[in-house]
Amino acid sequence: MKTQVGIVGAGPAGLTLANWLRKQGISSVIIEHRSREYSESRVRAGLLEQNTVDILNNLGLADRLKKEGKEHHGVHLSFDGERIRVPFGELTNGRNITIYGQQEVAKDLTDAWLAGGGQLFFEATATKIADFDTDHPSIHFEYEGEAAVLECDFVAACDGFHGLGRKTMPKGSYNEFTVTYPFSWLGILANVAPSSDELIYAYHERGFALSSSRSEKVSRLYVQCENDDTVANWSDERIWDELSIRLATPGWELKRGPIFEKSITPMRSYFIDNMQCGRLFLAGDAAHIVPPTGGKGLNLAVADVKHLVDGLTEFYKKGSTAALDSYSETALKRIWRAQDFSNFMTTLFHKQDEHGSFGYQLQKAKFDYIKRSKSYATTIAENYVGLPFEAFE
Ligand code: PHB
Repeated sequence: MKTQVGIVGAGPAGLTLANWLRKQGISSVIIEHRSREYSESRVRAGLLEQNTVDILNNLGLADRLKKEGKEHHGVHLSFDGERIRVPFGELTNGRNITIYGQQEVAKDLTDAWLAGGGQLFFEATATKIADFDTDHPSIHFEYEGEAAVLECDFVAACDGFHGLGRKTMPKGSYNEFTVTYPFSWLGILANVAPSSDELIYAYHERGFALSSSRSEKVSRLYVQCENDDTVANWSDERIWDELSIRLATPGWELKRGPIFEKSITPMRSYFIDNMQCGRLFLAGDAAHIVPPTGGKGLNLAVADVKHLVDGLTEFYKKGSTAALDSYSETALKRIWRAQDFSNFMTTLFHKQDEHGSFGYQLQKAKFDYIKRSKSYATTIAENYVGLPFEAFE
């Protein structure tokens, strides 16, 4: 089997890449370890930056997103029960975010790829990425009990944090950076209308809470919990009680409803400072993880893909490797920015230090400053909606 770009992983990065390359007249094949059902049902975050929505729209892949996603023009920040709103429009020249589940994005991209005759092998396990230091790399994989080989010009490893891509990069070709936070998130989906039109991020002495949504009828909420916590420790009643306390502000009430999904997510910052080696390129979670507090994960993956498509297009149309050669350098500028912002939001809203301690006072001082300073609020708004690509040129 032969193609121009061999893609490992059918998450948002791999699927966006395949659909986008097709538009540029470049062929690709995707190899995905999981089943289609698993890939499309895994509950993940759901915050799309303006850049991401624009890209999907320009690719003609945003029909359902436009109908079912919800555009937000601001975000609520709450500290010890006091709630303020950071408006996006006036602070970011009209840029916004859209709430639309990541698995919905994955469904739309998979449907579009397959409808256009794209090749995607589900339940196919990549076992080796070979010869990436030559101009004829290949992906070895197992499919339906048989060994197979995909020959290609380039390999894009969009295969997540535990994938083969990063493991294939020679030791010594990158440095890695890891921070593990001393808390996790318990996330729920519930059949109840959202209690707020826009997201609410809250610091409370009992811990962080976040109110988000998936539709007019489905709420998505999170509470800070212990790293060794289990879902079994959290009855529905305990979850709603904690959310009510942590998100409380005068004159506002949290709507409760039947919970149909509960899961715990660890909080981690991770990245490597080189995302390419020869003709192997990493994109998305394969190269970086951010804590979900800034809502940046999927957006960073799509931004990586943009740079990779730019590089591959320049190669196939003009024969130049200049943009491919600087892929890591280009992508990392945004990744560093997102790492900083995600760490900032995480530190600002989680209970990490004793309530009332020096660390707490710094958190409170930051919150007070957002209230008083348009410049500080602008910094938060422009990072939250995502900086335009031109900002990094
Ligand atoms: C979500 O809706 O799942 C969500 C929103 C914002 C975040 C994280 C998760 O920062």
